[in-house]
Amino acid sequence: MKSNWILIFFMTIICFIGACQSEEEINYNRYYTTGKQLYESRCGNCHNNDGSGLALLYPPLTDTTYLQSNKNKLAFIIKNGLNGEITVSGKTYNGQMPAQQDLSDIEIAEIITYITNSFGNKQGLKKTEDVNKDLKNCQ
Ligand code: HEC
Repeated sequence: MKSNWILIFFMTIICFIGACQSEEEINYNRYYTTGKQLYESRCGNCHNNDGSGLALLYPPLTDTTYLQSNKNKLAFIIKNGLNGEITVSGKTYNGQMPAQQDLSDIEIAEIITYITNSFGNKQGLKKTEDVNKDLKNCQ
Protein backbone atom coordinates (compact mmCIF):
# COMPACT_ATOMS: atom_id res chain seq x y z
CA MET A 1 0.00 0.00 0.00
CA LYS A 2 2.80 2.36 0.93
CA SER A 3 4.36 2.08 -2.53
CA ASN A 4 1.04 3.13 -4.10
CA TRP A 5 1.20 6.44 -2.26
CA ILE A 6 4.74 6.98 -3.43
CA LEU A 7 3.58 6.31 -6.96
CA ILE A 8 0.67 8.77 -6.64
CA PHE A 9 3.04 11.36 -5.16
CA PHE A 10 5.41 11.13 -8.13
CA MET A 11 2.59 11.08 -10.66
CA THR A 12 1.23 14.32 -9.13
CA ILE A 13 4.63 16.00 -9.37
CA ILE A 14 5.02 14.90 -12.98
CA CYS A 15 1.56 16.30 -13.78
CA PHE A 16 2.47 19.66 -12.25
CA ILE A 17 5.71 19.88 -14.21
CA GLY A 18 3.85 18.96 -17.39
CA ALA A 19 1.19 21.61 -16.75
CA CYS A 20 3.80 24.32 -16.18
CA GLN A 21 5.58 23.56 -19.39
CA SER A 22 2.44 23.56 -21.45
CA GLU A 23 1.31 26.90 -20.00
CA GLU A 24 4.60 28.47 -21.13
CA GLU A 25 4.16 26.77 -24.48
CA ILE A 26 0.60 28.08 -24.85
CA ASN A 27 1.80 31.61 -24.07
CA TYR A 28 4.67 31.25 -26.50
CA ASN A 29 2.34 30.18 -29.32
CA ARG A 30 -0.13 32.96 -28.53
CA TYR A 31 2.55 35.67 -28.41
CA TYR A 32 4.24 34.37 -31.54
CA THR A 33 1.03 34.33 -33.59
CA THR A 34 -0.16 37.80 -32.53
CA GLY A 35 3.41 39.07 -32.82
CA LYS A 36 3.56 37.94 -36.45
CA GLN A 37 0.41 39.93 -37.31
CA LEU A 38 1.71 43.01 -35.48
CA TYR A 39 5.11 42.66 -37.14
CA GLU A 40 3.59 42.46 -40.60
CA SER A 41 1.48 45.57 -40.05
CA ARG A 42 3.99 47.64 -38.03
CA CYS A 43 7.47 46.61 -39.11
CA GLY A 44 7.30 44.61 -42.33
CA ASN A 45 7.08 47.74 -44.50
CA CYS A 46 10.65 48.57 -43.67
CA HIS A 47 12.28 45.36 -42.42
CA ASN A 48 10.41 43.16 -44.88
CA ASN A 49 8.06 40.32 -43.89
CA ASP A 50 10.97 37.89 -44.13
CA GLY A 51 13.20 40.10 -41.94
CA SER A 52 15.70 40.70 -44.72
CA GLY A 53 15.51 44.53 -44.53
CA LEU A 54 16.13 46.76 -47.53
CA ALA A 55 19.58 47.45 -48.92
CA LEU A 56 21.41 50.02 -46.78
CA LEU A 57 18.17 51.76 -45.79
CA TYR A 58 16.63 49.25 -43.39
CA PRO A 59 18.76 46.72 -41.50
CA PRO A 60 17.78 43.03 -41.49
CA LEU A 61 16.54 41.18 -38.40
CA THR A 62 18.43 38.06 -39.42
CA ASP A 63 21.59 38.99 -37.46
CA THR A 64 21.13 36.60 -34.53
CA THR A 65 24.20 38.02 -32.75
CA TYR A 66 22.84 41.57 -32.88
CA LEU A 67 19.43 40.52 -31.56
CA GLN A 68 21.01 38.33 -28.87
CA SER A 69 23.43 40.96 -27.60
CA ASN A 70 20.76 43.68 -27.63
CA LYS A 71 17.94 41.50 -26.30
CA ASN A 72 17.20 43.80 -23.35
CA LYS A 73 17.19 46.89 -25.57
CA LEU A 74 14.71 45.63 -28.17
CA ALA A 75 11.65 46.86 -26.23
CA PHE A 76 13.16 50.34 -26.00
CA ILE A 77 14.07 50.38 -29.72
CA ILE A 78 10.54 49.32 -30.72
CA LYS A 79 8.82 51.84 -28.44
CA ASN A 80 11.14 54.84 -28.95
CA GLY A 81 12.64 54.21 -32.36
CA LEU A 82 16.34 54.32 -33.17
CA ASN A 83 18.81 56.58 -34.91
CA GLY A 84 22.57 56.96 -35.13
CA GLU A 85 25.15 54.66 -36.60
CA ILE A 86 24.77 50.91 -36.01
CA THR A 87 26.44 47.84 -37.49
CA VAL A 88 24.21 44.90 -38.40
CA SER A 89 25.47 41.83 -40.26
CA GLY A 90 28.76 43.61 -40.95
CA LYS A 91 27.10 46.61 -42.65
CA THR A 92 26.83 50.14 -41.33
CA TYR A 93 23.40 51.79 -41.13
CA ASN A 94 22.64 55.35 -40.20
CA GLY A 95 18.92 55.72 -40.62
CA GLN A 96 15.92 56.65 -38.57
CA MET A 97 13.42 54.23 -37.17
CA PRO A 98 10.24 55.99 -35.99
CA ALA A 99 8.93 55.55 -32.42
CA GLN A 100 5.71 53.60 -31.88
CA GLN A 101 4.58 54.90 -28.51
CA ASP A 102 1.07 53.55 -28.91
CA LEU A 103 2.24 49.92 -28.59
CA SER A 104 1.40 48.38 -25.20
CA ASP A 105 3.89 46.28 -23.24
CA ILE A 106 2.11 43.06 -24.18
CA GLU A 107 2.14 43.98 -27.88
CA ILE A 108 5.87 44.73 -27.65
CA ALA A 109 6.42 41.35 -25.92
CA GLU A 110 4.47 39.66 -28.72
CA ILE A 111 6.51 41.41 -31.43
CA ILE A 112 9.79 40.53 -29.67
CA THR A 113 8.69 36.90 -29.22
CA TYR A 114 7.99 36.80 -32.95
CA ILE A 115 11.18 38.45 -34.25
CA THR A 116 13.51 36.67 -31.81
CA ASN A 117 12.13 33.30 -32.91
CA SER A 118 12.01 33.96 -36.65
CA PHE A 119 14.54 34.75 -39.38
CA GLY A 120 17.05 32.28 -37.83
CA ASN A 121 16.68 33.59 -34.25
CA LYS A 122 15.77 31.28 -31.35
CA GLN A 123 15.34 33.06 -28.02
CA GLY A 124 12.03 31.67 -26.71
CA LEU A 125 9.17 33.53 -25.02
CA LYS A 126 9.55 37.24 -24.17
CA LYS A 127 7.36 37.91 -21.15
CA THR A 128 5.34 41.12 -20.77
CA GLU A 129 6.85 41.78 -17.32
CA ASP A 130 10.34 41.62 -18.85
CA VAL A 131 9.34 44.27 -21.41
CA ASN A 132 8.07 46.37 -18.52
CA LYS A 133 11.44 45.97 -16.74
CA ASP A 134 13.50 46.66 -19.89
CA LEU A 135 11.59 49.88 -20.57
CA LYS A 136 12.09 51.10 -16.99
CA ASN A 137 15.80 50.28 -16.96
CA CYS A 138 16.49 52.08 -20.24
CA GLN A 139 14.88 55.41 -19.41
C1 HEC B 1 9.92 53.41 -41.23
C2 HEC B 1 10.75 52.24 -41.27
C3 HEC B 1 10.84 51.35 -40.05
C4 HEC B 1 9.81 50.78 -39.35
C5 HEC B 1 8.32 50.88 -39.58
C6 HEC B 1 10.44 49.94 -38.32
N1 HEC B 1 11.80 50.05 -38.38
FE1 HEC B 1 13.17 49.07 -37.23
N2 HEC B 1 14.67 50.13 -38.07
C7 HEC B 1 14.53 51.04 -39.10
C8 HEC B 1 15.81 51.69 -39.36
C9 HEC B 1 16.09 52.75 -40.40
C10 HEC B 1 16.72 51.15 -38.42
C11 HEC B 1 18.19 51.52 -38.26
C12 HEC B 1 18.31 52.78 -37.40
C13 HEC B 1 19.72 53.32 -37.33
O1 HEC B 1 20.44 53.28 -38.34
O2 HEC B 1 20.12 53.77 -36.23
C14 HEC B 1 15.98 50.16 -37.65
C15 HEC B 1 16.53 49.34 -36.68
C16 HEC B 1 15.88 48.30 -36.03
C17 HEC B 1 16.48 47.35 -35.14
C18 HEC B 1 17.94 47.25 -34.74
C19 HEC B 1 18.82 46.76 -35.87
C20 HEC B 1 18.45 45.41 -36.40
O3 HEC B 1 18.22 45.32 -37.61
O4 HEC B 1 18.40 44.42 -35.65
C21 HEC B 1 15.49 46.49 -34.73
C22 HEC B 1 15.61 45.29 -33.80
C23 HEC B 1 14.25 46.93 -35.35
N3 HEC B 1 14.51 48.04 -36.14
C24 HEC B 1 13.02 46.33 -35.17
C25 HEC B 1 11.83 46.87 -35.63
C26 HEC B 1 10.51 46.38 -35.26
C27 HEC B 1 10.26 45.15 -34.39
C28 HEC B 1 9.60 47.19 -35.85
C29 HEC B 1 8.10 47.15 -35.73
C30 HEC B 1 7.53 47.35 -34.40
C31 HEC B 1 10.33 48.18 -36.62
N4 HEC B 1 11.68 47.97 -36.46
C32 HEC B 1 9.74 49.15 -37.42
C33 HEC B 1 13.37 51.30 -39.81
C34 HEC B 1 12.09 50.91 -39.42
